[in-house]
Amino acid sequence: MDINKLLREMTLEEKIGQLNQYTVDYFLDTEALIVTGPNHKKDGKTIKYAGSLLNCFNTKQMIEIQRNYMKDHNIPLLFMLDVVHGYKTIYPIPLAMGATFNPELLKRCCKMAAKEASTCGVHVTFSPMVDMVRDARWGRVMETTGEDPYLNEIMAKSQVEGYQQDFKNKYSIAGCVKHFACYGACESGKDYNMADMSEHTLFEYYMSGYKGAIDADVAMVMSSFNTLNGIPVSANKWLLTDVLKEKLNFKGIVISDFDAINDMIKHQHLPNSKECAYKAFDAGIDIDMMSIAYFDHLKDLIKENKVSIEKIDEAVYKILELKDKLGLFENPYLNASISNEKKVCLCKSHLNLATKAAEESFVLLKNEDNVLPLNENSKISLIGPFADKVHIGSWFCLGEEKDGVSIYQGLKENFVNLDMPSDENVINSAKEADVVLMSLGEKYIETGEGNSKANIKISDDQIQLIKNVYEVNKNLVLLLYTGRPIVLSDVEKYFKSIVVMWQPGTMGGKAISNLLSGKTNFSGKLTMSFPRHIAQVPIYYNYLNTGRPKQMMGQGFVSGYLDVENSPLYPFGYGLSYSNFKIHSLKISKNSIKEDQYVTVSVKVKNQSNVDGYNTIQLYINDLFSDIVRPVLELKGFKKVFIKANEEKTIRFKVDKNTLGYYRNGNFVTEKGDFNIYVSDSSLVTDFVRLTYK
Ligand code: GLC
Repeated sequence: MDINKLLREMTLEEKIGQLNQYTVDYFLDTEALIVTGPNHKKDGKTIKYAGSLLNCFNTKQMIEIQRNYMKDHNIPLLFMLDVVHGYKTIYPIPLAMGATFNPELLKRCCKMAAKEASTCGVHVTFSPMVDMVRDARWGRVMETTGEDPYLNEIMAKSQVEGYQQDFKNKYSIAGCVKHFACYGACESGKDYNMADMSEHTLFEYYMSGYKGAIDADVAMVMSSFNTLNGIPVSANKWLLTDVLKEKLNFKGIVISDFDAINDMIKHQHLPNSKECAYKAFDAGIDIDMMSIAYFDHLKDLIKENKVSIEKIDEAVYKILELKDKLGLFENPYLNASISNEKKVCLCKSHLNLATKAAEESFVLLKNEDNVLPLNENSKISLIGPFADKVHIGSWFCLGEEKDGVSIYQGLKENFVNLDMPSDENVINSAKEADVVLMSLGEKYIETGEGNSKANIKISDDQIQLIKNVYEVNKNLVLLLYTGRPIVLSDVEKYFKSIVVMWQPGTMGGKAISNLLSGKTNFSGKLTMSFPRHIAQVPIYYNYLNTGRPKQMMGQGFVSGYLDVENSPLYPFGYGLSYSNFKIHSLKISKNSIKEDQYVTVSVKVKNQSNVDGYNTIQLYINDLFSDIVRPVLELKGFKKVFIKANEEKTIRFKVDKNTLGYYRNGNFVTEKGDFNIYVSDSSLVTDFVRLTYK
């Protein structure tokens, strides 16, 4: 398609139309479902030249809408949707996929999601969500890969590569990284709340996920709802143009979040929708998602010379370019096919992949007396509100519980003496059992957008159930459904084993059954710290030492609490397995390097058990002295390695100036000086080697 020629032939209305996105109901003969947007009357004029729509969940509907639309137009609609952790086959939430420490596996899952979504008419997914998080009260921590900048960057890249596949695969869909920027730093964990930070903190901690996606050529960026340092992101030209387009060199499309442009009136930043449209477009937002401010005001703003037609053309060009890259001009329906939908969605290979993803995402936090794995003949009592529930997660797209496998259904495949008692028989069942599995935690509606919580502990009714069961049986296993770190301090002592199942998606029940039976082995590692107490939040592993570190000084005039330890209950990078790994013989090839040199850091990892297993070996650094103080630990490398029973492997990491560097006020530098380098299988590090950068 000759986009420049097409652009020259377009009217101003057609150009402005491309910069507007509406929900699918605006294209249907139903009443417009106004969620948070304006009560704009729905009429043919509004959508006459629309460039894209969101939330079409139906292949037949997509084909009909596109067909009707193309009767009067030659520029097809883009269909966009939140395919966040699967389309119809739902794999674990991103916080769980982060815990796999397996970027390749996450890429495969995104590729699967892209195939299902594109077969159902989706062209763009509003994913990956890469906001770094440190506050488990926020409901959207489930959508991210956690608290570490290094891991977030790698996982963001993997997701974009999985979705887009360089647009060379007929099932490619465009990614849209979100929410730019710092949405995850919302104060007090309250959704949509303000974010405030120095430029140093922004670039050193919060920017990496977006950078990873942009470096992977993500097609779109979604701007966020929050203010950053007092200015709503929708009008934040420094962020959306100076940083995103110039510093990060993003050349793609920027879309606002849902009605975020008009939200600036409620932010008490701008008095009316016209000012919002002007400031948002000037700041760098190309597409207005559902505030309808661009539809209402851009034409006048152009007439008043407040918005230039050149800038309009630049924005429209990028949108036409994406439509061309996807192949929409050749075929406005791409892969959408009702017959193929039935073959592709929920096919065996997709369900197997979702099972594998769930298995690798579960984290074994405790396993005393080797209660797990269970013997196939064990007498098992399965109780709790989620025993027979399929937890498909807070952004479940078209996923349905009926297509999934619950814990109960999964366990039946591997265990013969399984009882799931009615409420009145819980105690008797528990009394008779060799082991009691308790499926507890949160419903998926307790996390997700708008679902922040001030109290992130196990609920009182579930604690009472635990105590009642503990009276009659001490072999308790907690199977925790959750979209966030949960405070387990009140209940940890009652359980011999604790497994975090997150929101595992369609195949969670099969995955947990394979793991509890020992058919497969645990390998998940936390990517977000589990607090001892809610008051510790925000809590994270890469904290600063302070001038009065409690861990070095003990009590009195130190940084900490009188009544709670500083450390989390379970730390970043932590997770057990049925294997027993010993890490030893940490070595460094030399003790100093210059600018263009590197060293090799190695460890030996011995699997001292008779169970084959994976372990994620993690490399951390600590810059002992720096211009801007750096964290006590920074993850700078990891390798997920398979080690057979009683075998030993040597794991090696290359360390050079890039490993040692940081974003000092936004500029990547490596300061000369001494560094401690640790290698461990969690952020509970001990041995280190010293390296001097000269
Ligand atoms: C929501 C979310 C965003 C999502 C968009 C479209 O408000 O903040 O993540 O992609 O609207 O559904």
